[in-house]
Amino acid sequence: MTTEQNHGRRIFITGVGRGLGLALAQRFAAVGNTVFGSARGVTPDIGLTGRVTMDLADEQSIIAAANKLAEQTDSLDLLINCAGVDARAFGASEHVRGIFDLDAATFNAVLNVNATGPMVLTSAVLPLLRRGSDAMVVNVSSQLGSMQVAARNGRDAAYCVSKAALNMVSVKSAAALAPEGIGVVMLHPGWVQTDMGGENAPLTVDQSADAIVASIDNLSLADTGRFIRWDGYDHPW
Ligand SMILES: NC(=O)c1ccc[n+]([C@@H]2O[C@H](COP(=O)([O-])OP(=O)(O)OC[C@H]3O[C@@H](n4cnc5c(N)ncnc54)[C@H](OP(=O)(O)O)[C@@H]3O)[C@@H](O)[C@H]2O)c1
Repeated sequence: MTTEQNHGRRIFITGVGRGLGLALAQRFAAVGNTVFGSARGVTPDIGLTGRVTMDLADEQSIIAAANKLAEQTDSLDLLINCAGVDARAFGASEHVRGIFDLDAATFNAVLNVNATGPMVLTSAVLPLLRRGSDAMVVNVSSQLGSMQVAARNGRDAAYCVSKAALNMVSVKSAAALAPEGIGVVMLHPGWVQTDMGGENAPLTVDQSADAIVASIDNLSLADTGRFIRWDGYDHPW
C-alpha cells in the first residue's frame, strides 16, 4: 500500500490517553487519517475525530464502546489494540513477579486486559472492519510473548503469558479473517520509555512510534499472521 493511500484511513486505537497509544494516535491524525481512540479517562486534545470510554477488563464496557464507535463511523480500515498492562497495575511489586509469585486473581487480571480484551474488542468491531478497505488489525504484543525470548528474559510472568496468549489470539484471528480479506499482525514496539517501559528503555516514544507508523503503512494482507518488530522486521516466536 502506498503512503498516499494510507492518509485517508479510518483508524481506531485503544489506550490513547498516554504512552504509545497517544503517540500513534497523534501521528496517524496528523497526516489526514480519521482517528478514533479509546481511553479509560480523559483524552488529551490531539485532533481525534472521536473517542470512546472503554475498560478492557470489562466485557460490557467493550461492547458499549464498540456500539458508540459504530455511531461515529460505519467502517474501520485499521484497529490497533495498543492498551495493555503488566501485573504492577494490579498491585504486584516492582520486582516480585515470577511465575510462582502472583496469585490467581492478579494473573487472570493481566490476561483479561491483554488477551481477552483485545479478542472481545476485535469481535465487537468486526462489522466495521468488514466494511473497511484493506482492513488490518495490529495487536501490540511484546518480545515477552515470544517463547524464545521469555524463556530468558522478562520478570513479569503474567505479562509474558498474556502476550503469548495475545499472539495465539492473533494467529487464530488471522486464520479466521484472511478469507474475508482482513489482516491481523502482532507487533513488538521495542522496549520503550513509557510508564510501562521505564526510563532505562533504549527507545524513546518518538523513535518507536515513528517506526511503528512506517511499518504499519507497509502492511498488507500478505503480512497476515506475522509477528513483527517496531521496524517491520520479523520477531522470533
Ligand atoms: N513500553 C514498552 O517497553 C513495551 C514493550 C513491549 C510491549 N509494550 C506494549 O505496548 C502497549 C502500550 O504500552 P505503553 O508502553 O504505552 O504503556 P503505558 O504508557 O503504561 O500505557 C498503557 C495504556 O494502556 C491503557 N490501559 C491500561 N489498562 C487498561 C484497561 N483495563 N482498559 C483500557 N485501557 C487500559 C492505559 O490507559 P490508562 O491511562 O487509563 O491507564 C494506557 O493508555 C501495551 O500493550 C504494552 O504491553 C510496551
